[in-house]
Amino acid sequence: MYIMLNNRSICGYLAALLMAPAAYGAENALLEKSRQLTVEYATQLQAALQESLKSGGPAAAIGVCAELAPQIASDLSRQSGAKVRRTSLRFRNPGNAPDSWEARALERLESTNGNEIFEADASGGARYLKAITTAGVCLACHGDALAPEIESELATAYPHDRARGFKVGDLRGAFSVSWPAETRSKATTHHASQPKTPPVSKP
Ligand code: HEC
Repeated sequence: MYIMLNNRSICGYLAALLMAPAAYGAENALLEKSRQLTVEYATQLQAALQESLKSGGPAAAIGVCAELAPQIASDLSRQSGAKVRRTSLRFRNPGNAPDSWEARALERLESTNGNEIFEADASGGARYLKAITTAGVCLACHGDALAPEIESELATAYPHDRARGFKVGDLRGAFSVSWPAETRSKATTHHASQPKTPPVSKP
């Protein structure tokens, strides 16, 4: 199943929900959990970034993006059992490069101006991607004209940096949540007798 969730597809999504509410239970639960995780990630990261930009300026805030972001992601992963990370088609850190599912989903978000994508897979797991849009505050490190001290710090740490030249409103990347196999059956033990076939919603 591949669900594209944005303004354009929301009607199809609701229709699918109404037509097959039973089969949808487990997926809906994981979709909600995925959303909560990315909201939590975004909130923690934004607070730390704002705070650090205010107190130490952009050069100090590099550490927030470089160290705190992966730290928050691993805390959330440990707490939830899902793999939580950030990714992008134009990444700064090669460790954030998208896998093939993420790359396809990112391209889809980009081409449809979408906000999130959820897909339940055959193994009983699920994947979720939530768009991260470029804001004004991001341009200090992801825009066109970077201050010399930022430029030199980035050049040393990220010689193959591709995360430059973004404009406000551009898709910067995405939060990614991967639920391992069998998570759906665990999430819905009480729905065990219900049909397995998921509803299909097309954008
Ligand atoms: C102070 C500099 C700085 C600012 C401001 C900043 N970033 Fe970053 N960003 C970085 C660095 C450094 C990395 C690489 C982190 C790593 O090594 O994982 C990064 C990585 C990322 C990534 C992961 C994908 C990649 O390119 O490796 C995303 C997504 C991202 N930033 C989004 C944002 C958004 C959205 C904003 C504004 C809300 C923002 N950043 C503001 C420095 C910054």
